[in-house]
Amino acid sequence: MATSPLDHLDDEISRLLAEISALASLDELIAAEATLTGRRSVLSTLQKSLGSLEPEERRTAGAQLQAARREVESALEVRRGLLEAQSRAQVLERDRLDLGDVVTEQVPWTTSVGHPGLVALTQRALEDVFVGMGFTVSDGPEVESDWYNFEALNIPPAHPARGLWDTFYVELGEPETVVLRTHTSPTQVHLMETAVATGTLPIHSVMPGRCYRRDTPDARHLYTFHQIEGLVIDRGITFADLAGVIETFTRAYFGPDITSRLRPGYFPFTEPSAEFEVTCTICRGEGCRTCSFTGWIELGGCGMVDPAVLAAVGVDAEEWSGFAFGFGIDRCAQMRHQLSDMRALTENDARFLEQFS
Ligand code: DAH
Repeated sequence: MATSPLDHLDDEISRLLAEISALASLDELIAAEATLTGRRSVLSTLQKSLGSLEPEERRTAGAQLQAARREVESALEVRRGLLEAQSRAQVLERDRLDLGDVVTEQVPWTTSVGHPGLVALTQRALEDVFVGMGFTVSDGPEVESDWYNFEALNIPPAHPARGLWDTFYVELGEPETVVLRTHTSPTQVHLMETAVATGTLPIHSVMPGRCYRRDTPDARHLYTFHQIEGLVIDRGITFADLAGVIETFTRAYFGPDITSRLRPGYFPFTEPSAEFEVTCTICRGEGCRTCSFTGWIELGGCGMVDPAVLAAVGVDAEEWSGFAFGFGIDRCAQMRHQLSDMRALTENDARFLEQFS
């Protein structure tokens, strides 16, 4: 029988397969590729030698050689996949952080930049509503003298109404003469004094800001909280103007299905005085635990500025009259977002804060 160039093909294949499975790294594999399957390989040499065969034999031998090449190439790919996986595992193992060690690696900064908190957002929304109604926005100090926080507001020393505000006193000057403001009403006094001194009456302004009271925090009270005060001093102002502003604000801020009502109340700086209530936003007026089944929630106080207050700051009560109101910004946030506990506003829990932006 005539010899064929492929007589030892099976042995060659076995040798190549053994060589492939001995390759120990990707580098070795890449270096060996040319001699295993490339131009310098036994397979390529055999391929060339087929040219000397008869056409019939050449076809059979060619097919045989093709099959052999496929077998070797696929063994090589399997080996490549295995070595790549091993090398990946080595990199991971090498780069693994031992949590027992001090970690000095710098990780990319992924924390978000943050945004204003719910109270600040609520304050802005309230300011927007009032600015839309023609009010300016004014600021006042958080540390006040007794005069601004109480006396000018018709609350003389030892007046029983002082009991309405549990006051933090600041250790400055005579005892109990400097306070952390218990409400934003003292800012009214500053505005009126300035307007009288500069001849710039009338006033249409809102005054948002932080207030302090010696209260025990609970679901509806904080000892550091926020109010927004409103003051209008102009000619011919009546209680109807006050009621109209309160109602317009209520619908603009809470929505058209929420309305307001005024109930007789008492504040030393307004006469008459009223408590300002809005439809309970939890039950929409049906009556629920939050509103004590009345359908209404108290938001703040209001009234016509008492002539004694106008006199204290030198506004001529013959020419000017006005109304004022004040209510809680935190309470608005609570009602608008149906917060069951107002203390969430001060606890800085990111899971709470992230819900509002
Ligand atoms: N200052 C009052 C408080 O903190 C709220 C208030 C009531 C403000 C009547 C006003 C007002 O301007 O007219 O309880």
